[in-house]
Amino acid sequence: MPQTLNVSDSRTVWERFIKVLGYFSKPRSAWIALTLSVIVGSALEPTIPALMKPLLDHGFGAPDLNYWVIPLAVVGLFSLRSSASFLADVALAKIAQTSLHSLRQKMFDCISVAELDLYRKQPATALANTVVFEATNGAVLLLQSITTLVKDSLSLVALLGYLLYLNWKLTLIVLFIFPIVAFAMRALSKRLYSLTKASQATVDRLAYVVEENVLAHKEIRIQTAEAQQRERFRAVNTLLQRLAMKSAIAGSAVAPITNFFGSIALSAVITVAIIQSHSNSLSAGGFVAFVTAMLMLIAPIKHLSEVTSTITRGVVAAERAIALVETVVSESGGTFQKERSSGLIEFKGVGVTYPDATAAALEHINLTVHPGQFVALVGLSGSGKTTLANLLPRFVDCTQGQVLLDGVELRDWNLQALRQQFGLVGQHVVMFNDTVLNNIALGQPLDRERAQRALAAANLAERVAALPQGMDTLLGHNASLLSGGERQRLAIARAIYKDAPILILDEATSALDTDTDSLVQASLRAAMVGRTTIAIAHRLTTIRDADVIYVLGHGRILQSGSHDELIAQGGAYEDFIRLS
Ligand SMILES: Nc1ncnc2c1ncn2[C@@H]1O[C@H](COP(=O)(O)OP(=O)(O)OP(=O)(O)O)[C@@H](O)[C@H]1O
Ligand SMILES: [Mg+2]
Repeated sequence: MPQTLNVSDSRTVWERFIKVLGYFSKPRSAWIALTLSVIVGSALEPTIPALMKPLLDHGFGAPDLNYWVIPLAVVGLFSLRSSASFLADVALAKIAQTSLHSLRQKMFDCISVAELDLYRKQPATALANTVVFEATNGAVLLLQSITTLVKDSLSLVALLGYLLYLNWKLTLIVLFIFPIVAFAMRALSKRLYSLTKASQATVDRLAYVVEENVLAHKEIRIQTAEAQQRERFRAVNTLLQRLAMKSAIAGSAVAPITNFFGSIALSAVITVAIIQSHSNSLSAGGFVAFVTAMLMLIAPIKHLSEVTSTITRGVVAAERAIALVETVVSESGGTFQKERSSGLIEFKGVGVTYPDATAAALEHINLTVHPGQFVALVGLSGSGKTTLANLLPRFVDCTQGQVLLDGVELRDWNLQALRQQFGLVGQHVVMFNDTVLNNIALGQPLDRERAQRALAAANLAERVAALPQGMDTLLGHNASLLSGGERQRLAIARAIYKDAPILILDEATSALDTDTDSLVQASLRAAMVGRTTIAIAHRLTTIRDADVIYVLGHGRILQSGSHDELIAQGGAYEDFIRLS
């Protein structure tokens, strides 16, 4: 799960809110428009009760009053207030959308260069949830609360100012309600913070169950595990419902508390007003204006107390998005660049121990692959072949020794320049839900002719020509339109198209039918022409042609040599050939 900015720290929601707002500070012009319109809107708030006061004080018969101004002023004031409120809403949307756009982009940029560890720690659904849902949710909630916060606190100040001006003694009675509301809000926000975090984690779990069920739909049907999976979903779903109810109850608790103390304040005001009216120190108009303004206070106080829950939810959501930007570590490479390496690869005393692993996956690996050579790696499952191949594009870093390409340690290579040197056909073929052409040319400049040649070399030209739109046919999720063997040949076509100096093949163990197999073999041979090749091989047909074969066992090189040499030696290789 994502690390939220120091979850264990004791900062209040308010402090977190200030920190998170840093990400919503642009554009300045929208902030200025927002501030101005909110100030204007709130300053106009006490004008309504102020307008009523002379009417009530003097009645409609007072000679020195121009009554006709009042209806006009009401229309004017309301139009001004509505315009200010419109401007504030637009400015707020501008701030929200601008910040959100840049935050989303930053998050995706981070994901695209993150250390590969990120993908092991966070499931795809959790990352998607952060980028797509949490960020938007956070922005919307936070900015909603900013309007309330600014608008209502300004209205509050303006109304309170007017109240003080009217009658400071009565106002003091109203003021006692504030510390009580503040106390309730503080207690509530703590509880809501932890509840919201728990809900977030539960939403991730729920999405993860859906993801697994979609990806593994065939496995689930064949195992008839539907009921079990539905139960698994139900458990998480119920937990989410409980958490949401707890949040709702906590979130709704402040309003009744505020209202209760508000009613006490009101009755106290009325009592004091009655006493004051006996001593003639309070006019009828003064009292009505006071009570109107006081009743108008209820709305901002109510909004401000309710905003706590919105802010808390917003902070939790936005913090998760920001944590992705701030805490995810980028991959780091060196500066060495070379357009096209010669293909000289050296492993010097290389060892790999995965984090938390008890045994090393590779130990004391010393081997040299000369430019243009075809090297095969064989060994039982778990002997470290994929790990060894993964060292080259730095999907894994060695924990001991050095790996060099063209005499330069891999860590000193610029990462992109390094990865440009390899074509990779992996154990599991992965295709995009895109056209054949875009899948082949992935990351490289588009060239239809070149794609056609790559398809032909991979023995796939005919099959692609038979597709409805040829090379422009959409392949569906992970190229579901193609057969297993065709998908593999498409991966080979991709490697041929890239035309990298070094080819890494991690052969699938699954035996394809011999017909397809020979097609795959032929296309592999086409891909290997003129390239240094490192092939993890299970098939004798592949291994036999290799210049040097390394036999791996428990992370070490047990034997090396050509097929004939190794057969003559006997031992591990002979066992391997017999078993495969
Ligand atoms: N990410 C990882 N974290 C921890 N251990 C790992 C990781 N990847 C592989 N291993 C372990 O390292 C050892 C070597 O794995 P590797 O994938 O290199 O084997 P392999 O020779 O490619 O096997 P296969 O023929 O089955 O593909 C295994 O014991 C495996 O369990
Ligand atoms: Mg493997």
